[in-house]
Amino acid sequence: MQTHQYDAVIIGGGGAGLMAALYASRGVNTAVISKVYPTRSHTGAAQGGIGAALGNHEEDHWEWHAFDTVKGSDYLADQDAVEVLCKEAIETVIELEHMGLPFDRTEDGRISQRRFGGHTNNETGKPVRRACHAADRTGHMILQTLYQQCIKNQVKFFDEFQAVDMIMNDGRPAALVAVEIGTGELHVFHAKAFLFATGGWGKVWQITSNAHTLTGDGNSILFRRGIPMEDMEFFQFHPTGIYRLGILITEGVRGEGGVLINGKGERFMERYAPTIKDLASRDVISRAIYLEIMEGRGINGKNYVHLDVRPETVNRYLAEAGESRRIDREYIESKLPDILDFCRTYLGIDPVEEPMPIQPTAHYAMGGIPTNVDAEVVIDENNTVLPGLYAAGECACVSVHGANRLGTNSLVDLVVFGRRGGRAMAEYAKQADFVPIPDGALDEIQQELERLRTANGSTSVAALREEMQETMMRYVSVFRTEEGMQQALDKIRELKERYRTDLRIDDRGHIFNYDMLEAWELGSLLDLAEVTTVAALARTESRGAHSRDDYPQRDDVNWLKHSLAHRKPDGSIELTYKPVVITKYEPKERVY
Ligand code: FUM
Repeated sequence: MQTHQYDAVIIGGGGAGLMAALYASRGVNTAVISKVYPTRSHTGAAQGGIGAALGNHEEDHWEWHAFDTVKGSDYLADQDAVEVLCKEAIETVIELEHMGLPFDRTEDGRISQRRFGGHTNNETGKPVRRACHAADRTGHMILQTLYQQCIKNQVKFFDEFQAVDMIMNDGRPAALVAVEIGTGELHVFHAKAFLFATGGWGKVWQITSNAHTLTGDGNSILFRRGIPMEDMEFFQFHPTGIYRLGILITEGVRGEGGVLINGKGERFMERYAPTIKDLASRDVISRAIYLEIMEGRGINGKNYVHLDVRPETVNRYLAEAGESRRIDREYIESKLPDILDFCRTYLGIDPVEEPMPIQPTAHYAMGGIPTNVDAEVVIDENNTVLPGLYAAGECACVSVHGANRLGTNSLVDLVVFGRRGGRAMAEYAKQADFVPIPDGALDEIQQELERLRTANGSTSVAALREEMQETMMRYVSVFRTEEGMQQALDKIRELKERYRTDLRIDDRGHIFNYDMLEAWELGSLLDLAEVTTVAALARTESRGAHSRDDYPQRDDVNWLKHSLAHRKPDGSIELTYKPVVITKYEPKERVY
C-alpha cells in the first residue's frame, strides 16, 4: 500500500474534474485520480454543443437561457443556481475559446451556434441558436483543451486508478482509497480537500448512451459513508439512441433540421409540441416516441422510430416553415461527422441517404451528491456544508437540472461548477489542516475487495448485472407505476442478496483484475438502482423525467421539493425533503 499527500485531490478526469483541477492547481498542489486515461472520460461523448447565450446569430439573453432551463426542469431546479449557470456560461465558453478550443465558426469568425431542444426565444417561443459547437465533438474538444491546460499547470495525474472508498474521521473527509488497476495495489490519498467528479450511472439500465465506466462509483462511495443523495428518482432518457445499441445520436441532428418520423411517415412531434416540434425538451420527446410505439406506430410495428436528416427531407420542412436556409451532403458531413461515422460503422447505413432507427436511451442523472453553487457538499435539509468535500458535474446535484436537464447544460454544468469548485477547494485547502487517518481505516475496503477477488459462488457478475439492467429498463424508465416499481425494488433487493452471498468471479490475480473491479462496480450500481427506485416510488406525481401512469399530473402543492435519500447504519434508506429555491419563475404548466 502506498500513501500520497496533496492539498487537493480530484476524483474523476472528465470535464468537471479537469476544470476543477485547473483552477485548484493555480492555488495549491493538486492531483487527479481517474479510472481511465482522462481524455477517454465520458465528457467526450457529449456531442452537440455547450449552451451559452452569446447571441452570435440572433438575439439571445442569459435570462432566456435561465427560463428555458427552469421550464425544462419542470420547475424543480433551484433558480439561484440556474442563474449562476446561465450567466457564467457566457464567460466560461469564451474562456474555453481563449484556451484554444476549436469551435466551429460563423462566416465572420465568431463561435458558431446551433438550435437545441428547449432553447427558445422567450418572446416568440421559437427555437434560438444557443448551442456552441465543435462539429459533433464538443465534449471531446473540451476534454482535450482542459487536459492540455492541466498538464501545462503541473497537475499530477494518477491514470487508471479506481476510487473505492473514502476514509472519514468523525464525519470529516480524511483520505481517498483507490486501486491501481495495473497492479492491484491500494493507494491512500491524504488531502485537505476532495472533489468528486465521477460522472453518472447509466449502466443501471439496459439501453444506455453511457460508456462501461459509468457506474456511479463516487456516489456509492459517499452514500455508503453517510452523504445523502438528492433527487435520485430523476434519470433522463435521451430521445435518440441508436436502436438496440443505445449509442447517442446528438440532438444536434434535430438542431440542424432533422425530424422524427413514425411508421406511418408522420412527423409526429407536430402533435405533441406544435410550436417547437422536434426541439421540445427531452422528457417530452422520449414520452412521445414511446406513445407512438405503444400505439403501433413504430417503424414496421417495431420498438423504434426514424430520425431523418436527409437533405431532401430537411429542406422540405425548412421550406414549409418559411426558412430560406437549405442544407446538402457537404453541410451534414461537416456538422455531424461522428454521427455519420457511428451509423456507417454500427448500422451500415448512411444517414445522408437513409433515416436512422432510434429509441430513447438512458442518458443522464439529474440527481446526485447535494452541493451548493460553490460545489461544496451539503448534507441535510438545511444545506449544512461538510468542510473539505466538494462535487461537480453529473455526479453532483446543485440543482440546475431539476426533473429534466436541458440539452447542452451538462457541459455548462461541468465547466461552470468545476471552475467554482476548483477555486473554492483551493481557498479552503490553503487554510485547512489534514484530517488524521484513523487506525484500521482501510480494513473494511480491504476485506470487501478480498471477498470479491475470491468470490466462489454460482452467479457471475454479468448475469446479475443483466438482470438488474432488464428490471430497471422495464419498470423504472420513461413510464413508471407503483406496481412495476415495487417489483423492481423487490428484484433489486434479491439481486443485492445474491451479490452478497452467491457471487462468482474467475480471475484470482491482482494485475488488471477487471473481473474483481467490475464486481465492485456492480455493487455500486445495485445501490444506486435501489435508491433510484425507493425515491421514485415515494414521489406520487409526474414531473419531468419521472412520469407515472398512476399519478399523471404534476403536484406542486405536495411535491415541489427535492428528495434526499439517506443510508441508515443498518443499510435501509430514509427519505427527507427540502424546498426548491424559486427566485423569479413561478411554476406554470409547460407548453412547447
Ligand atoms: O444530444 C447531445 O448532443 C447530447 C448533449 C447533452 O446531453 O447535453
